[in-house]
Amino acid sequence: MAEVLRIERLEAGYGRFHVLFGVDLVVNAGEIVVLLGPNGAGKSTLLNSVVGMADVYSGRVVLMGRDITGKPPHEVTKFGVAYVMQSPNNFGTPNIFGELTVYENLVAASAGIPREEVPRRIEDVYGIFPKLRELRDRKAKFLSGGERQMLAIGMGLMKSPKLLLLDEPTAGLAPKLVSDFFIAIRDIRDKLGISILLVEQNARKALEIGDRAYVLVTGRIKYSGSAKALDEERLAELFLGH
Ligand SMILES: Nc1ncnc2c1ncn2[C@@H]1O[C@H](COP(=O)(O)OP(=O)(O)OP(=O)(O)O)[C@@H](O)[C@H]1O
Ligand SMILES: [Mg+2]
Repeated sequence: MAEVLRIERLEAGYGRFHVLFGVDLVVNAGEIVVLLGPNGAGKSTLLNSVVGMADVYSGRVVLMGRDITGKPPHEVTKFGVAYVMQSPNNFGTPNIFGELTVYENLVAASAGIPREEVPRRIEDVYGIFPKLRELRDRKAKFLSGGERQMLAIGMGLMKSPKLLLLDEPTAGLAPKLVSDFFIAIRDIRDKLGISILLVEQNARKALEIGDRAYVLVTGRIKYSGSAKALDEERLAELFLGH
């Protein structure tokens, strides 16, 4: 199976603050890989390391055979990675323009792709999140939290990435909406063929749609393997460091 992302022996952090220790992780083509772990374990830092938003001290990040270790965010985007950051985060608000409509934001996110491709890609996004079609003329500043999150993911999809990094996409959403989001995430893989690395607090639901899972505890991988084999008891033990 082709590897989309390979992280090898990664040591990373922020300046002198060391967060990740010897992390190995792979996302194969067509996989949904779930990354779980307690607060502060370094999950967001792992995603930040892939896109050049954290400091990589050693180890390698390889994207579809290309070494992208330490490359800046705009280059990594060009190589086919979309990153929907955890919100709120330490780097400011996501790149949504409040004064633009949903449709205009999607168009804005298509910068750099051939113009004739744009309508089809917007249709792909509406196919995943039909609600965005209904909201197409609404200014983004009026969107609810869940609608905003749909738009943020939709904007990530506009560039037809090979790999989508999702950091807690369902945080703060109502339970009914959470289920819809998990269906949408699976659709992104199934219908658009995009491989996904998914960070989630909602472990049970994430493991249901995940192919494989990793558990990160204080910067070290404590489990890697089948998502289905991780039951809640095992997960609780791992989180507590047993
Ligand atoms: N930009 C930053 N600069 C300095 N330290 C940071 C930065 N971002 C995170 N940290 C620190 O790095 C450690 C790991 O944080 P990280 O955000 O990766 O954890 P996480 O697993 O994503 O947690 P959560 O589940 O709460 O989102 C924490 O101690 C955090 O305070
Ligand atoms: Mg985080």
